[in-house]
Amino acid sequence: MSLESDIRAALANVIDPELGTDIVDLGMVGDIVIKDGRASVGLALTIASCPMRGQIEGDITRRVGAVSGVSSVEIVTTVMSQDQRSTLMERARLRARETATPTAVDPSTRVIAVSSGKGGVGKSSLSVNLALAIAAQGHTVGLLDADIWGFSTPRMLGATETRLMANADRKIVPTVANGIHLVSTGLLLDDEATALMWRGLMLSKALEQFLNDVAWPSDLGYLVVDMPPGTGDVQMALTRLLPQAEMVVVTTPQIAAQRVAARVADMARRSHMPIVGVIENMAGFTTDSGERIEIFGAGGGLALAQELSVPFLASVPIDPLVSQGSDSGLPIVLHKPDSAAAHVIIEAAARITEILPPLALDNCIGRLSGLVALIGDWGQRAEDRGLKTDNGLLITDMPNPDNRGTDSTGEPAVKAESSFRVGRR
Ligand SMILES: Nc1ncnc2c1ncn2[C@@H]1O[C@H](COP(=O)(O)OP(=O)(O)OP(=O)(O)O)[C@@H](O)[C@H]1O
Ligand SMILES: [Mg+2]
Repeated sequence: MSLESDIRAALANVIDPELGTDIVDLGMVGDIVIKDGRASVGLALTIASCPMRGQIEGDITRRVGAVSGVSSVEIVTTVMSQDQRSTLMERARLRARETATPTAVDPSTRVIAVSSGKGGVGKSSLSVNLALAIAAQGHTVGLLDADIWGFSTPRMLGATETRLMANADRKIVPTVANGIHLVSTGLLLDDEATALMWRGLMLSKALEQFLNDVAWPSDLGYLVVDMPPGTGDVQMALTRLLPQAEMVVVTTPQIAAQRVAARVADMARRSHMPIVGVIENMAGFTTDSGERIEIFGAGGGLALAQELSVPFLASVPIDPLVSQGSDSGLPIVLHKPDSAAAHVIIEAAARITEILPPLALDNCIGRLSGLVALIGDWGQRAEDRGLKTDNGLLITDMPNPDNRGTDSTGEPAVKAESSFRVGRR
């Protein structure tokens, strides 16, 4: 495949959260120009003041920046003509009808796969604590235990006594534990004997079922996926089933762990899964007397982040409270939020939601309808020359209410340009 087709393939994973379809299919991608590894991507927006703009541009930057051979990404943004918008809306409606939602997870849910090629580095502990820290920011958060055979999240979240139930539509209802919507095979299996019976039968399909047959909450802002160790089938399946998934790579400060984590990151890149950043875990232990002991060495996380040219999100110290919290079902960010390790995890969660802001809070169509109500005469003009969607909303070029009156022609006059750089050595 040429670099341009690789970039197009990566762009096909950028979903317009409002329309629920990818931006290539919607005809929002314009010219792609590549020069010495620098990619310039044309993006046509429905309206210039689209609040989704930053998010779509951010997604493009990370997706295209993850394509091997691309050193920097520039986005050249234009505003669609009325004809283009009509075509787009028609296409979006057609797609919505055609594609019965591929999974029960809404396209606007941010999916964060917590991965590492290596076992025992703290993926599950971090998945649970990050999920709680993101929920504490006010988001609805799900936790999908994709470690089908080696599940550990029910114990960590204190949900060992609960079992998943089905609702009237025969969908699995996630268990809510400490406010997190949890799905895990650990919540299906009653005992080891049942586990053996399931093994090889339904469990191989479990991940697919957890995405298709679960009644995830409709306002699910974030779905944290606790990945099994390794770079195998589950990662490929996740990429196929949830194209919006992005990866947080966990490593210990050890060089050996960093190498293995680099492999998983490489696989993510090849399947166009962007990497949100690296978290180093088990990074040094501070004794009661204040002495710091680097049990697993130091610097591996930062080195990996630099190697991958992605943000270094956090360095979580070794703290017995993490393992005690996991064993007792009292995760550290909930029960010892003032501890050093909890602080670092809470900050990492803040960085993650800063990089991946929630998608469902605002949308262009909602904003447009608000504008139409706000500016009556503009609304009338909009009706004269705009288009009306099925649900009666008006789509047209509206001036920003902050500088209304400046757009005297009502024609799309804005040609905005923006550029982002993704560093890569
Ligand atoms: N920062 C930390 N400080 C102390 N103990 C930790 C820390 N992080 C994780 N642990 C402990 O290390 C062990 C492994 O952690 P965890 O199960 O989260 O790793 P994992 O990567 O999910 O493992 P697996 O690959 O088996 O799924 C657990 O006993 C956990 O409590
Ligand atoms: Mg685990």
